Amino acid sequence: MDRPTWAPTGVDILRPASSRMYDYMLGGSHNFQVDREVADQAIAHMPELPFVLREGRSFLRRAVRFLVEAGVDQFLDLGSGIPTVGNVHEVARQVNPAARVVYVDNDPIAVAHSRAILGADPRAIALEADLRHPLQILNNPQVRGLLDVTRPVAVLLVAVLHFVPDSDQPTQIVRQLRDAVAPGSYLVVAHSTDDGAAPAGQASARGVYARSGNAVIARSQQQVAEFFDGWELVPPGVVRVPLWHATDDAPVEAVPADADRFPGYVGVARLP
Ligand SMILES: C[S@@+](CC[C@H](N)C(=O)[O-])C[C@H]1O[C@@H](n2cnc3c(N)ncnc32)[C@H](O)[C@@H]1O
Repeated sequence: MDRPTWAPTGVDILRPASSRMYDYMLGGSHNFQVDREVADQAIAHMPELPFVLREGRSFLRRAVRFLVEAGVDQFLDLGSGIPTVGNVHEVARQVNPAARVVYVDNDPIAVAHSRAILGADPRAIALEADLRHPLQILNNPQVRGLLDVTRPVAVLLVAVLHFVPDSDQPTQIVRQLRDAVAPGSYLVVAHSTDDGAAPAGQASARGVYARSGNAVIARSQQQVAEFFDGWELVPPGVVRVPLWHATDDAPVEAVPADADRFPGYVGVARLP
């Protein structure tokens, strides 16, 4: 397999990565053959998977617009992924051109492409780091240089906590973030679930992800709600992805009639 010219040296192009599988399913071009093969296997089991991911991106845009309209002008996007249509800084700056964004991902490709898109942007940076060490991220001099943590920050954990197993204590990670940010900050979570009647093939698609080394952990509505312990949930609370402020901004597709079976939950909350 040829190494694409844009692939940073040191990146294993034979090892599938969730970031690049996600990019492929969203129609992006920063993925390797191995990512496309694994993603295609998952889609073969669960044909609506790309739709599910696009709905997640639509939620992210709705949430960012909500936050910036609520006055938030600083964003910490943890597990930000490979840049695609409607990145956080672009959506935020449609409302507030001065919005600041720190993108964080542990995938070097995601970080390299984020940096390429941002160029010399004085108000946005991309950092290669692991969100399982949130205080290291918050104390990073580059992050401190851009975000004023004595003022409200929106912490985005969109479609990423489901890659963190219970053994890595995701609830504890979110608590550390809560205790470090200023009152008036917001938390945004989007998370995979198996609650209710899961779409056909979902279990098999999860098996494909797990065998590729990118296991997705499904959590219940109650477990997702626990991430918001100590925060005040914005109505309508922790709900299926297409149901969160669906009418505020046109989702990619119309809200499906069976949105209450959608395999993911989201929530947005404010720190009192
Ligand atoms: C499904 S993508 C979501 C991207 C973006 N948040 C969105 O919703 O469009 C998940 C991203 O989380 C990143 N990721 C997974 N585990 C991580 C960790 N422990 N630390 C930082 N990033 C992580 C992956 O590399 C990937 O880019």
